[in-house]
Amino acid sequence: LENGLARTPQLGWNDWNSFGCSVSDALVRQTADVMVSSGMAAAGYQYVNIDDCWSTRSRNGNGDLVPDPQKFPNGIRSLADYVHGKGLKLGIYSSAGLTTCAGYPASLNNEQRDANLWASWGIDYLKYDNCGDTQGRSGQQRYTAMRDALARTGRPILFAICNWGNDDVGSWGPATGNSWRTTGDIAGNWGSVMGILDAQPRWAASARPGAWNDPDMLEVGNGLTDTESRTHFSLWSLLNAPLIAGNDLRSMSATTRSILTNTEVIAVNQDWGGRQGNKIADSGDQEVWLKPMANGSAAVVLLNRGGGTATVSTTASALGLGSASSYTVRDLWTHTTGNSGPTISASVPSHGAAMFIVSGGGTPPPGGGTSVLRGVGS
Ligand code: DGJ
Repeated sequence: LENGLARTPQLGWNDWNSFGCSVSDALVRQTADVMVSSGMAAAGYQYVNIDDCWSTRSRNGNGDLVPDPQKFPNGIRSLADYVHGKGLKLGIYSSAGLTTCAGYPASLNNEQRDANLWASWGIDYLKYDNCGDTQGRSGQQRYTAMRDALARTGRPILFAICNWGNDDVGSWGPATGNSWRTTGDIAGNWGSVMGILDAQPRWAASARPGAWNDPDMLEVGNGLTDTESRTHFSLWSLLNAPLIAGNDLRSMSATTRSILTNTEVIAVNQDWGGRQGNKIADSGDQEVWLKPMANGSAAVVLLNRGGGTATVSTTASALGLGSASSYTVRDLWTHTTGNSGPTISASVPSHGAAMFIVSGGGTPPPGGGTSVLRGVGS
């Protein structure tokens, strides 16, 4: 959507994956605090997003949505002020139907009323779900109505479509939202993350600045092993996915924090070389995922889905880098730079991934450095 927002994929946090309906003013404030103190804000995370279950069970006498006074005793406007005071932005949630997925009032037929209310509170982001009675209207009609209502408020509000890949959203999503969910809900286990990954390749051509495929929020540090969390973060970054953390930031481990704040991996997510990452090789348990970077280098993820450590390989020519005898390889997880021959290869643990930037052809790495690569051709 050409509304000036999400020129690169949005980074933030959302309460749903860890807290479900147990959202509150205190949770949002504490999360905003930690987003700054943990270094996440400095790494680029900006949006603190409220999901379903934030309102009362019915609209007030004026027809307006009302924040649940138990969950949000100070209202949402004061919360937005707090979040803005931290240099962050606040997101809210509704659905393009008569009710949300949890049965709260939603915005179909009240698009302008609700958009105006959110704008008056200082809301910066809307996640717009696909539950409730749709009164027979198409997804495109329902999401376009909210897009236009948000635009009429005059406030920049990022519009995140959440219709799970339905209604051919890849065709109209780019003109309607800043991102759109491609798939159903993620869960904090390896099978879920891999199942969602497998559904992504067919969406790749729809993505562009301002308009991103959304394979759903992150489960980093939320049920996955540390190795799986690194793999998940590598792949979502390569896909130019919105990076919306879904763990409890207040209690995350040092390892989870270091994964979420890996700025070399985030830089791949925020780069636009003309197309999002996609799978280029699949030999069963071993896969190669490539994203061309704007500067001509290649970001690559070597994925091992198998039960034991395996060597995963690709070649410079498969990465579109020609056929020189030597390449510079930056390892985005060990933060080391080395050389490789035209075969780019790594030993990858079960459920693990190596992530590299491969560049040049004969250019020595600046200042040397060590490499964990086992390049067959080097
Ligand atoms: C379905 C969405 O896909 C989830 O991300 C979450 O927003 C729930 N609805 C909330 O009910």
